[in-house]
Amino acid sequence: MSARSCAANCAIQRRSKRLHRLDLTGTNAHRWGHRRIALTPSTRSLIDQLKSRRAVHGVIDLPDAFAQDPERFERFHIADDDLTMDYSKCAVDAETIDLLVSVARSAKVEERRDAMLSGTAINTTEDRAVLHTALRAPSDATIVSAGTNVVPLVHEVLEAMATFAQGVREGTICGSTGQPITDVVNIGIGGSDLGPAMATQAMAPYHDGPRIHFVSNVDGAHIADTLARLAPETTLIIVASKTFTTIETMTNARTARRWIVAALGEEAVGAHFAAVSTALDKVGEFGLGEERVFGFWDWVGGRYSIWSAIGLPLMIAIGPEQFKSFLAGAHAMDRHFAAAPLERNMPVVLGLIGIWHRVVCEYPSRAIIPYDQRLARFPAYLQQLDMESNGKRVTIDGEPLDTPSGPIVWGEPGTNGQHAFFQLLHQGTDIVPVEFMIAARGHEPELSDQHLLLVANCLAQSEALMCGRSFAETSNQMAMKKTPAEAIETLAPHRVFPGNRPSVTLIYDQLTPFALGRLIALYEHRVFVEAQIFGINAFDQWGVELGKEMATQLLPVLRGDSDGTAHDGSTRGLAARISTLRS
Ligand code: F6P
Repeated sequence: MSARSCAANCAIQRRSKRLHRLDLTGTNAHRWGHRRIALTPSTRSLIDQLKSRRAVHGVIDLPDAFAQDPERFERFHIADDDLTMDYSKCAVDAETIDLLVSVARSAKVEERRDAMLSGTAINTTEDRAVLHTALRAPSDATIVSAGTNVVPLVHEVLEAMATFAQGVREGTICGSTGQPITDVVNIGIGGSDLGPAMATQAMAPYHDGPRIHFVSNVDGAHIADTLARLAPETTLIIVASKTFTTIETMTNARTARRWIVAALGEEAVGAHFAAVSTALDKVGEFGLGEERVFGFWDWVGGRYSIWSAIGLPLMIAIGPEQFKSFLAGAHAMDRHFAAAPLERNMPVVLGLIGIWHRVVCEYPSRAIIPYDQRLARFPAYLQQLDMESNGKRVTIDGEPLDTPSGPIVWGEPGTNGQHAFFQLLHQGTDIVPVEFMIAARGHEPELSDQHLLLVANCLAQSEALMCGRSFAETSNQMAMKKTPAEAIETLAPHRVFPGNRPSVTLIYDQLTPFALGRLIALYEHRVFVEAQIFGINAFDQWGVELGKEMATQLLPVLRGDSDGTAHDGSTRGLAARISTLRS
C-alpha cells in the first residue's frame, strides 16, 4: 500500500473509532424504517441480560440439566415433517430461549423476513431485492419486484432448463459430431460452483444423466486435470457466472474453448457450450444460440443461486423432476420460516442458538459436521453462505459494529473428522459449538448395519462432547484396568474430558432431493436471522474486492511489465523471488 493510501486508511480508522465511541454512548439511537443500526437499545439490553444471567448463574451444567429435567429433549427440539433439530445439548434453559426470542422480536426479524419475502429492496448497499425464495415458489404464486411478478419469469427459465437438460440426458442434444454428451463440465467459482458442486455430489444416488465435473480454480491444474480425462466430442461445457466477468471463470472458459476448437474446430463451439448468467449481453463472445443461454436476475445473490439456472448441472445429473423436488424442499422450509411461531421456527431458533454462542458466549467459530459422506462439500458451501453473508464489520448504515458478527464456519464429514480435529473439540482450550447432521437411513439397504455404525458415531460424539469424563471417572477406570497409582496420577489429567461442550443435531429420514433443498434453505434463513440481529447487510460482499483489484495490479509486475514500486516490500520481494525461480 502506498504511503498516501496508508494515511487515508489511518484517517478512516480514526473516524471509525470515533463512530464506535459514539455508538456506545447510545447517541446513535437506532433509526426506524428500513435503515437501522446494529443492536437496537432494546436488543442490546436483552443481550446484556443474557450475558449477566450467564455470569451470575454460571454456565448450565448440561448432564445435570438432563438429570433434573427428563423432558429436556422434548422441550428443546423442533420437529417438522421428518426433520428434527435437537438443541437440548446447548447450555440454554427456558428463560434463555424466551430472552433470545425477545431478541429476535426486538431486532424485528419477522418484519425483515416479511420484507425480504415480499420483494422489498433489503440489500441496500446494492439497491436490490433479495428473492432467492421466489426461485422455488410454485408457478401460481405472485411475488412482485420493481412492479413485476417475477414468478412467471422464474418458471419460464425452469422450463427452458428442463428442455435443455432432458435433451442432453436423452441424447437429442448432442456434440458437433453427433455423439451423445457423456460428460458435463461446469466452469464457475464461489456461488456459481459451490452450490451445484455440493448438491451434485450429495445427490449421487439420483444421478441418471451424464457425468458432471466442476472446475473453479484459476490454477491451470484444475482444468488441465479435468479435461485430460474427457473427450471433446462428448463433452458439454457450462460457463456459469452471475456477472460473466469473474477472471477465474472467464480464463478457464477461454481455455476450454481453445480445447474444443483445437479438437473440433471453431464451428463446434455452439454445440459444446452453454452459459448461465445475469449479464446476458456479455455472453455474446461464445456465439451461443439462445436455447443454450440461461438467465437469472440481480435479486439472486451468487451464494443463494443454486435454485436458479446455476443449478443446471444438477438438473442434468438428476433430471427435471428430481430438481423440482429439490426446489419443493426449499419451498417447504420457506413456508415454515414464514409461518411458524418464533419459538417453534427452525431457522429462527437455529439463528438464535448461533447468536447465543457467538454474541453471548463469544465462541469464535462453529463446526459443521455432516455424518453423511455425500454432504462432504456442505461445510465449504456453508462457509460461503455464512461467512460471505455475515463476515461484516459495519452495520447496514455503515457504523462500526461493537458486537461480534458471523463466526468462522468450518467442518468435514464424520467420521473422518473424528480422526483429525475432534481431539481439539473434546480437549482443546477453545469451545467450538458443533452442528451434526445425520440421515436415519442411507441409500444402500444392503449396508444398513454400516449406516447404524455411522449413526452410533454421530450420536456418541455429541454425547461425549456434552458428558465428558471427570478426573474421578478417569482414575477409577484406570484403576479397574490395574493401572499403578503413580501412572494414574501422571496420566489421568491427559485423559480427562471437560464435557459441557454444546452441539445441535439435525436428523432427517434420508438425503433425498427434497431433504437437501430443505436443509440448504434452513441454513439460508438461519444466516438471515443472525444478520438481522447483528444489524448488518447479509447480501453484499465488498470484502472480496480488494484482493481481486490487487491481483490485477500485480500481474504486470509478475510479467515483468512493471517494476512493482507501488507495492510493499514483502510483496515486491516475493514477486522477485518467483521471477527468479521462473527464469
Ligand atoms: O467471490 C465473490 C463472488 O462475487 C461471489 O459472491 C460469487 O458467488 C462469485 O464471486 C462468483 O461470481 P460470478 O458468478 O459473478 O462469476
